Amino acid sequence: MTIRSVVKGVGHYLPEKIVPNSYFESFLDTTNEWIISRSGIERRHFAAEGQTTSDLATKAAAKALAMAGMTGEDLDAIVVATSTADLTFPSVATMVQNNLGNTTGFAFDVQAVCAGFVFALSNANALILSGQAKRVLVIGAETFSRIMDWTDRGTCVLFGDGAGALVLQAEDAAGTSGDRGILATDLNSDGRFKDLLYVDGGVSTQTTGRLRMEGKEVFRHAVEKLADTADKALTKAGLAHDDVDWVVPHQANIRIIQATARKLGVSMDKVVVTVQDHGNTSAASIPLALSVGVQNGQIKQGDLVVTEAIGGGLAWGSVVIRW
Ligand code: UT7
Repeated sequence: MTIRSVVKGVGHYLPEKIVPNSYFESFLDTTNEWIISRSGIERRHFAAEGQTTSDLATKAAAKALAMAGMTGEDLDAIVVATSTADLTFPSVATMVQNNLGNTTGFAFDVQAVCAGFVFALSNANALILSGQAKRVLVIGAETFSRIMDWTDRGTCVLFGDGAGALVLQAEDAAGTSGDRGILATDLNSDGRFKDLLYVDGGVSTQTTGRLRMEGKEVFRHAVEKLADTADKALTKAGLAHDDVDWVVPHQANIRIIQATARKLGVSMDKVVVTVQDHGNTSAASIPLALSVGVQNGQIKQGDLVVTEAIGGGLAWGSVVIRW
Protein backbone atom coordinates (compact mmCIF):
# COMPACT_ATOMS: atom_id res chain seq x y z
CA MET A 1 0.00 0.00 0.00
CA THR A 2 1.06 3.56 -0.67
CA ILE A 3 -0.42 7.04 -0.96
CA ARG A 4 -1.04 8.76 -4.30
CA SER A 5 -2.02 12.34 -5.14
CA VAL A 6 -5.15 11.81 -7.21
CA VAL A 7 -6.70 14.48 -9.44
CA LYS A 8 -10.24 15.22 -8.23
CA GLY A 9 -10.98 18.34 -10.26
CA VAL A 10 -9.60 20.58 -12.99
CA GLY A 11 -10.69 23.97 -14.34
CA HIS A 12 -9.49 27.00 -16.24
CA TYR A 13 -10.22 30.64 -16.88
CA LEU A 14 -9.31 32.80 -19.86
CA PRO A 15 -9.83 36.59 -19.88
CA GLU A 16 -12.66 37.74 -22.17
CA LYS A 17 -10.48 39.79 -24.52
CA ILE A 18 -9.31 37.67 -27.49
CA VAL A 19 -6.48 39.17 -29.53
CA PRO A 20 -5.98 37.83 -33.08
CA ASN A 21 -2.59 37.91 -34.84
CA SER A 22 -3.87 40.68 -37.12
CA TYR A 23 -3.75 43.05 -34.12
CA PHE A 24 0.08 43.02 -34.24
CA GLU A 25 0.13 43.81 -37.99
CA SER A 26 -1.11 47.31 -37.15
CA PHE A 27 2.02 48.38 -35.21
CA LEU A 28 4.76 45.80 -35.92
CA ASP A 29 6.58 44.54 -39.02
CA THR A 30 4.88 41.13 -38.80
CA THR A 31 2.12 39.11 -40.42
CA ASN A 32 -0.54 36.63 -39.37
CA GLU A 33 1.14 34.11 -41.72
CA TRP A 34 4.57 34.50 -40.07
CA ILE A 35 3.18 34.05 -36.56
CA ILE A 36 1.16 30.96 -37.52
CA SER A 37 3.91 29.32 -39.56
CA ARG A 38 6.72 29.91 -36.98
CA SER A 39 4.72 29.31 -33.77
CA GLY A 40 1.26 27.85 -34.53
CA ILE A 41 -0.36 30.70 -32.57
CA GLU A 42 -3.56 32.20 -34.05
CA ARG A 43 -4.92 34.16 -31.08
CA ARG A 44 -4.37 34.74 -27.35
CA HIS A 45 -6.31 36.26 -24.44
CA PHE A 46 -5.23 39.43 -22.64
CA ALA A 47 -6.40 40.39 -19.15
CA ALA A 48 -8.56 43.50 -18.89
CA GLU A 49 -7.18 46.64 -17.31
CA GLY A 50 -7.13 46.10 -13.55
CA GLN A 51 -7.59 42.33 -13.86
CA THR A 52 -4.77 40.60 -11.98
CA THR A 53 -3.17 37.17 -11.85
CA SER A 54 -4.96 36.37 -8.57
CA ASP A 55 -8.31 37.21 -10.24
CA LEU A 56 -7.64 34.70 -13.04
CA ALA A 57 -6.30 32.12 -10.55
CA THR A 58 -9.36 32.39 -8.31
CA LYS A 59 -11.77 31.87 -11.23
CA ALA A 60 -9.88 28.77 -12.43
CA ALA A 61 -9.70 27.45 -8.85
CA ALA A 62 -13.45 27.83 -8.33
CA LYS A 63 -14.09 25.65 -11.40
CA ALA A 64 -11.63 22.96 -10.28
CA LEU A 65 -13.14 22.92 -6.79
CA ALA A 66 -16.66 22.62 -8.24
CA MET A 67 -15.61 19.57 -10.27
CA ALA A 68 -14.01 18.07 -7.14
CA GLY A 69 -17.22 18.70 -5.15
CA MET A 70 -15.19 20.75 -2.63
CA THR A 71 -15.12 24.29 -1.29
CA GLY A 72 -12.10 26.41 -0.35
CA GLU A 73 -12.53 25.37 3.28
CA ASP A 74 -11.74 21.75 2.38
CA LEU A 75 -8.18 22.59 1.30
CA ASP A 76 -5.04 21.99 3.37
CA ALA A 77 -2.74 23.82 0.95
CA ILE A 78 -2.70 26.06 -2.12
CA VAL A 79 0.33 26.23 -4.41
CA VAL A 80 0.37 28.82 -7.19
CA ALA A 81 2.91 28.79 -10.02
CA THR A 82 3.39 32.28 -11.42
CA SER A 83 6.05 34.76 -12.54
CA THR A 84 3.58 37.64 -12.78
CA ALA A 85 2.32 38.07 -9.21
CA ASP A 86 -0.10 40.93 -8.42
CA LEU A 87 2.34 42.38 -5.87
CA THR A 88 5.91 41.65 -4.82
CA PHE A 89 4.31 40.15 -1.71
CA PRO A 90 2.14 38.66 -0.31
CA SER A 91 1.93 35.63 -2.58
CA VAL A 92 -0.82 35.17 -5.15
CA ALA A 93 -1.58 31.92 -3.33
CA THR A 94 -2.56 33.70 -0.10
CA MET A 95 -4.76 36.10 -2.11
CA VAL A 96 -6.50 33.10 -3.69
CA GLN A 97 -6.78 31.49 -0.25
CA ASN A 98 -8.61 34.58 1.01
CA ASN A 99 -10.83 34.77 -2.08
CA LEU A 100 -11.83 31.11 -1.56
CA GLY A 101 -12.65 31.64 2.12
CA ASN A 102 -9.93 29.32 3.43
CA THR A 103 -8.37 30.28 6.80
CA THR A 104 -7.03 26.95 8.02
CA GLY A 105 -4.61 25.85 5.28
CA PHE A 106 -1.29 27.26 4.07
CA ALA A 107 -0.52 28.88 0.72
CA PHE A 108 2.60 29.85 -1.21
CA ASP A 109 3.87 30.65 -4.71
CA VAL A 110 6.40 28.75 -6.81
CA GLN A 111 8.41 30.57 -9.48
CA ALA A 112 9.89 28.45 -12.25
CA VAL A 113 8.51 30.50 -15.15
CA CYS A 114 7.06 28.32 -17.96
CA ALA A 115 8.03 25.17 -16.04
CA GLY A 116 6.26 26.54 -12.95
CA PHE A 117 3.26 24.25 -13.07
CA VAL A 118 5.28 21.01 -13.14
CA PHE A 119 7.39 22.36 -10.25
CA ALA A 120 4.22 23.28 -8.31
CA LEU A 121 2.64 19.90 -9.02
CA SER A 122 5.77 18.09 -7.87
CA ASN A 123 5.87 20.17 -4.66
CA ALA A 124 2.17 19.55 -4.00
CA ASN A 125 2.75 15.82 -4.51
CA ALA A 126 5.64 15.91 -2.02
CA LEU A 127 3.39 17.64 0.55
CA ILE A 128 0.83 14.87 0.14
CA LEU A 129 3.35 11.99 0.17
CA SER A 130 5.01 13.40 3.31
CA GLY A 131 1.66 13.63 5.11
CA GLN A 132 1.73 17.46 5.41
CA ALA A 133 -1.48 17.91 3.41
CA LYS A 134 -4.33 15.77 2.13
CA ARG A 135 -6.09 18.15 -0.24
CA VAL A 136 -4.00 20.54 -2.30
CA LEU A 137 -5.08 23.08 -4.91
CA VAL A 138 -2.38 23.61 -7.57
CA ILE A 139 -2.74 26.61 -9.89
CA GLY A 140 -0.78 28.02 -12.82
CA ALA A 141 -1.76 31.65 -13.49
CA GLU A 142 -0.13 34.44 -15.48
CA THR A 143 -0.60 37.90 -16.94
CA PHE A 144 2.42 37.89 -19.29
CA SER A 145 0.83 40.70 -21.34
CA ARG A 146 2.11 42.98 -18.53
CA ILE A 147 5.79 42.20 -19.18
CA MET A 148 5.89 42.38 -22.98
CA ASP A 149 8.07 44.78 -24.93
CA TRP A 150 5.53 45.86 -27.58
CA THR A 151 8.34 46.90 -29.91
CA ASP A 152 9.95 43.42 -29.93
CA ARG A 153 8.21 41.36 -32.63
CA GLY A 154 10.26 38.29 -31.64
CA THR A 155 8.48 37.98 -28.26
CA CYS A 156 5.30 40.06 -27.89
CA VAL A 157 3.35 38.08 -30.50
CA LEU A 158 3.91 34.82 -28.60
CA PHE A 159 2.48 35.26 -25.11
CA GLY A 160 -0.99 35.39 -23.53
CA ASP A 161 -2.81 35.47 -20.18
CA GLY A 162 -4.84 32.79 -18.39
CA ALA A 163 -5.07 30.35 -15.50
CA GLY A 164 -5.66 26.66 -14.87
CA ALA A 165 -6.09 24.69 -11.64
CA LEU A 166 -6.05 21.11 -10.34
CA VAL A 167 -7.32 19.70 -7.04
CA LEU A 168 -5.24 16.82 -5.68
CA GLN A 169 -6.34 14.50 -2.89
CA ALA A 170 -4.38 11.86 -0.96
CA GLU A 171 -5.75 8.38 -1.61
CA ASP A 172 -4.56 4.90 -0.65
CA ALA A 173 -3.24 2.96 -3.62
CA ALA A 174 -1.61 -0.37 -4.50
CA GLY A 175 1.77 1.19 -5.31
CA THR A 176 1.79 0.07 -8.95
CA SER A 177 1.92 2.01 -12.22
CA GLY A 178 -1.77 1.17 -12.63
CA ASP A 179 -2.69 3.45 -9.68
CA ARG A 180 -4.57 6.67 -10.30
CA GLY A 181 -2.63 9.81 -9.34
CA ILE A 182 0.86 11.23 -9.75
CA LEU A 183 3.18 8.33 -10.57
CA ALA A 184 6.51 10.16 -11.05
CA THR A 185 8.05 13.61 -11.33
CA ASP A 186 11.33 14.88 -12.79
CA LEU A 187 12.64 18.41 -12.15
CA ASN A 188 15.75 20.13 -13.55
CA SER A 189 17.33 23.56 -13.80
CA ASP A 190 20.58 25.04 -15.06
CA GLY A 191 21.28 28.67 -14.21
CA ARG A 192 24.09 28.93 -16.76
CA PHE A 193 21.34 29.64 -19.33
CA LYS A 194 19.91 32.71 -17.56
CA ASP A 195 20.54 35.03 -20.52
CA LEU A 196 18.41 32.99 -22.95
CA LEU A 197 15.09 33.96 -21.34
CA TYR A 198 14.62 36.55 -18.60
CA VAL A 199 12.91 39.77 -17.55
CA ASP A 200 15.42 42.63 -17.48
CA GLY A 201 14.15 44.16 -14.24
CA GLY A 202 12.81 43.42 -10.78
CA VAL A 203 12.47 44.73 -7.25
CA SER A 204 16.12 44.39 -6.29
CA THR A 205 17.26 46.27 -9.39
CA GLN A 206 14.58 48.96 -8.90
CA THR A 207 13.22 48.54 -12.46
CA THR A 208 10.08 46.97 -13.90
CA GLY A 209 11.58 45.04 -16.77
CA ARG A 210 10.36 43.38 -19.95
CA LEU A 211 10.70 39.82 -21.25
CA ARG A 212 13.83 39.11 -23.30
CA MET A 213 14.36 35.87 -25.22
CA GLU A 214 16.89 34.27 -27.54
CA GLY A 215 14.12 32.34 -29.29
CA LYS A 216 16.24 30.10 -31.50
CA GLU A 217 18.48 28.97 -28.62
CA VAL A 218 15.52 28.33 -26.28
CA PHE A 219 13.92 26.33 -29.11
CA ARG A 220 17.02 24.14 -29.44
CA HIS A 221 17.20 23.44 -25.67
CA ALA A 222 13.45 22.83 -25.50
CA VAL A 223 13.28 19.96 -27.97
CA GLU A 224 16.27 18.18 -26.41
CA LYS A 225 15.40 18.74 -22.74
CA LEU A 226 11.63 18.16 -22.95
CA ALA A 227 11.97 14.72 -24.52
CA ASP A 228 14.71 13.85 -22.02
CA THR A 229 12.71 14.86 -18.92
CA ALA A 230 9.56 13.08 -20.13
CA ASP A 231 11.66 9.97 -20.74
CA LYS A 232 13.15 10.15 -17.24
CA ALA A 233 9.75 10.61 -15.57
CA LEU A 234 8.28 7.67 -17.50
CA THR A 235 11.25 5.46 -16.53
CA LYS A 236 10.83 6.45 -12.86
CA ALA A 237 7.16 5.41 -13.12
CA GLY A 238 8.18 2.06 -14.65
CA LEU A 239 6.36 2.93 -17.86
CA ALA A 240 7.26 3.13 -21.56
CA HIS A 241 6.32 5.47 -24.43
CA ASP A 242 3.69 2.98 -25.63
CA ASP A 243 1.83 3.32 -22.30
CA VAL A 244 1.18 7.04 -22.88
CA ASP A 245 -2.42 8.03 -23.69
CA TRP A 246 -1.86 11.80 -23.72
CA VAL A 247 1.12 14.12 -23.82
CA VAL A 248 0.12 17.53 -22.42
CA PRO A 249 3.10 19.76 -23.24
CA HIS A 250 3.87 23.35 -22.36
CA GLN A 251 2.23 25.31 -25.16
CA ALA A 252 4.99 27.60 -26.47
CA ASN A 253 5.32 26.66 -30.12
CA ILE A 254 3.63 23.98 -32.27
CA ARG A 255 7.00 23.13 -33.86
CA ILE A 256 8.52 22.38 -30.42
CA ILE A 257 5.44 20.31 -29.51
CA GLN A 258 5.69 18.31 -32.76
CA ALA A 259 9.46 17.77 -32.54
CA THR A 260 9.21 16.61 -28.91
CA ALA A 261 6.36 14.21 -29.74
CA ARG A 262 8.47 12.81 -32.60
CA LYS A 263 11.42 12.29 -30.24
CA LEU A 264 9.13 10.52 -27.76
CA GLY A 265 7.67 8.34 -30.51
CA VAL A 266 4.15 9.56 -29.66
CA SER A 267 1.84 10.48 -32.56
CA MET A 268 0.29 13.96 -32.63
CA ASP A 269 -3.23 12.54 -32.17
CA LYS A 270 -2.14 11.74 -28.60
CA VAL A 271 -1.01 15.31 -27.89
CA VAL A 272 -3.32 17.97 -26.43
CA VAL A 273 -2.69 21.19 -28.39
CA THR A 274 -4.10 24.57 -27.35
CA VAL A 275 -1.27 26.87 -28.47
CA GLN A 276 -3.33 28.11 -31.44
CA ASP A 277 -5.96 29.56 -29.09
CA HIS A 278 -3.98 30.58 -25.99
CA GLY A 279 -0.45 31.41 -27.17
CA ASN A 280 2.24 30.86 -24.55
CA THR A 281 0.68 31.42 -21.11
CA SER A 282 3.82 30.34 -19.24
CA ALA A 283 2.94 28.50 -15.98
CA ALA A 284 -0.75 28.48 -16.91
CA SER A 285 -0.32 26.61 -20.18
CA ILE A 286 -0.29 23.02 -18.89
CA PRO A 287 -3.25 23.28 -16.48
CA LEU A 288 -5.14 25.19 -19.20
CA ALA A 289 -4.43 22.38 -21.66
CA LEU A 290 -5.34 19.68 -19.11
CA SER A 291 -8.65 21.40 -18.43
CA VAL A 292 -9.43 21.87 -22.14
CA GLY A 293 -8.42 18.23 -22.78
CA VAL A 294 -10.86 17.01 -20.13
CA GLN A 295 -13.60 19.39 -21.30
CA ASN A 296 -13.18 18.16 -24.92
CA GLY A 297 -13.51 14.53 -23.82
CA GLN A 298 -9.90 13.72 -24.79
CA ILE A 299 -8.51 12.94 -21.30
CA LYS A 300 -10.56 10.37 -19.38
CA GLN A 301 -10.24 8.72 -15.97
CA GLY A 302 -7.54 6.06 -16.05
CA ASP A 303 -5.60 7.63 -18.97
CA LEU A 304 -1.84 7.97 -18.63
CA VAL A 305 -0.93 11.65 -19.03
CA VAL A 306 2.62 12.99 -19.42
CA THR A 307 3.19 16.72 -18.93
CA GLU A 308 6.47 18.42 -19.87
CA ALA A 309 7.60 22.06 -19.74
CA ILE A 310 10.64 24.32 -20.04
CA GLY A 311 11.18 27.99 -19.31
CA GLY A 312 13.46 30.70 -17.99
CA GLY A 313 16.28 29.58 -15.75
CA LEU A 314 16.49 27.41 -17.66
CA ALA A 315 14.13 25.23 -15.63
CA TRP A 316 12.38 22.15 -17.01
CA GLY A 317 10.55 19.06 -15.86
CA SER A 318 7.85 16.46 -16.34
CA VAL A 319 5.06 14.86 -14.30
CA VAL A 320 3.44 11.51 -15.10
CA ILE A 321 -0.19 11.27 -13.93
CA ARG A 322 -2.73 8.49 -14.22
CA TRP A 323 -5.90 10.56 -14.55
O1 UT7 B 1 7.90 29.31 -22.90
C1 UT7 B 1 9.27 29.33 -22.73
C2 UT7 B 1 9.91 28.68 -23.84
N1 UT7 B 1 9.86 29.52 -25.02
C3 UT7 B 1 9.93 28.93 -26.18
O2 UT7 B 1 9.91 27.73 -26.23
C4 UT7 B 1 10.07 29.75 -27.43
C5 UT7 B 1 11.13 29.13 -28.29
N2 UT7 B 1 11.38 29.79 -29.54
C6 UT7 B 1 10.48 29.90 -30.54
O3 UT7 B 1 9.33 29.52 -30.41
C7 UT7 B 1 10.96 30.40 -31.88
O4 UT7 B 1 12.35 30.52 -31.87
C8 UT7 B 1 10.33 31.75 -32.29
C9 UT7 B 1 8.85 31.57 -32.65
C10 UT7 B 1 10.50 32.75 -31.18
C11 UT7 B 1 11.04 32.30 -33.55
O5 UT7 B 1 11.01 31.36 -34.58
P1 UT7 B 1 12.34 31.02 -35.41
O6 UT7 B 1 11.96 30.12 -36.49
O7 UT7 B 1 13.36 30.54 -34.42
O8 UT7 B 1 12.70 32.42 -36.03
P2 UT7 B 1 14.03 33.29 -35.80
O9 UT7 B 1 14.11 33.80 -34.42
O10 UT7 B 1 15.17 32.52 -36.33
O11 UT7 B 1 13.73 34.46 -36.76
C12 UT7 B 1 13.68 34.28 -38.16
C13 UT7 B 1 13.42 35.64 -38.77
C14 UT7 B 1 14.36 36.74 -38.28
O12 UT7 B 1 14.67 37.56 -39.38
P3 UT7 B 1 16.10 37.46 -40.08
O13 UT7 B 1 17.09 37.78 -39.00
O14 UT7 B 1 16.20 36.05 -40.57
O15 UT7 B 1 16.00 38.49 -41.17
C15 UT7 B 1 13.51 37.52 -37.30
O16 UT7 B 1 13.88 38.87 -37.21
O17 UT7 B 1 12.10 36.07 -38.46
C16 UT7 B 1 12.15 37.39 -37.94
N3 UT7 B 1 11.07 37.58 -36.98
C17 UT7 B 1 9.82 37.94 -37.37
N4 UT7 B 1 9.31 38.21 -38.58
C18 UT7 B 1 8.02 38.54 -38.64
C19 UT7 B 1 11.07 37.41 -35.63
N5 UT7 B 1 9.86 37.65 -35.15
C20 UT7 B 1 9.07 37.99 -36.19
C21 UT7 B 1 7.72 38.35 -36.32
N6 UT7 B 1 7.23 38.61 -37.56
N7 UT7 B 1 6.87 38.42 -35.26
